[in-house]
Amino acid sequence: MKIDIAQLRKEYTAHTLDQSDVDSDPLVQFKQWMVEAVDSEVPEPNAMVLATLNQYSRPSARVVLLKDIEEGGFVFYTNYNSEKGQELAAHPFAALNFNWLELQRQVRIEGRVEKVSEEMSKAYFQSRPRGSQIGAWASPQSTIIEDRSILEENVKRLEEKYQGQEVLPIPPHWGGYSLKPDLIEFWQGRPSRLHDRIRYRLDEKGKWLIERLAP
Ligand SMILES: Cc1cc2nc3c(=O)[nH]c(=O)nc-3n(C[C@H](O)[C@H](O)[C@H](O)COP(=O)(O)O)c2cc1C
Repeated sequence: MKIDIAQLRKEYTAHTLDQSDVDSDPLVQFKQWMVEAVDSEVPEPNAMVLATLNQYSRPSARVVLLKDIEEGGFVFYTNYNSEKGQELAAHPFAALNFNWLELQRQVRIEGRVEKVSEEMSKAYFQSRPRGSQIGAWASPQSTIIEDRSILEENVKRLEEKYQGQEVLPIPPHWGGYSLKPDLIEFWQGRPSRLHDRIRYRLDEKGKWLIERLAP
């Protein structure tokens, strides 16, 4: 079957969004939308695109999972030596994007990124299923590997090393980042492409300004 991508379109009529509807705190607003995404059975509602910039100002993007909202920061976990880890070390600013199509919603977030505390990373690491703990040790994320057997051999070696041990130590190269937002936009699809966009922007005094943007 031939698909005409140019003719794929959908009218957005499910919800509306107005400055008078939203909470004055964008994190409260975000949590409310997250609850609605979970209730609407959006698949993997905590999956978000993370965009970073390398030392040559070249952007890259990939999906990671939101694991916490802590002290006003959006927390995700990864390998600090990965491509994203190296990019964040060189340029500690990033953007996040949640795309909840079932609700015709998008949330865009921008801000500065910092590592979370070692205690927090360790507590989360050790709460993960044992297989995921082994996986974090076994995979030199973002490096070139000859084939899949490299990973399988690493897993085998680690299974022997940690035999009988339910909880593994956290790898030194693994942990969390927290993105502290200074910009959060809530996007609600509307008919005829006249969508609702409400943006929160932190002013110099640390107060959130709420503005409507043209679609
Ligand atoms: C649904 C989904 C969830 C993912 N969650 C994570 C995650 O939480 N942390 C992570 O490091 N990679 C996660 N990944 C894999 C990343 O998209 C990416 O492949 C990996 O982190 C390497 O990225 P990098 O080479 O840019 O550092 C996820 C991928 C998908 C599709």
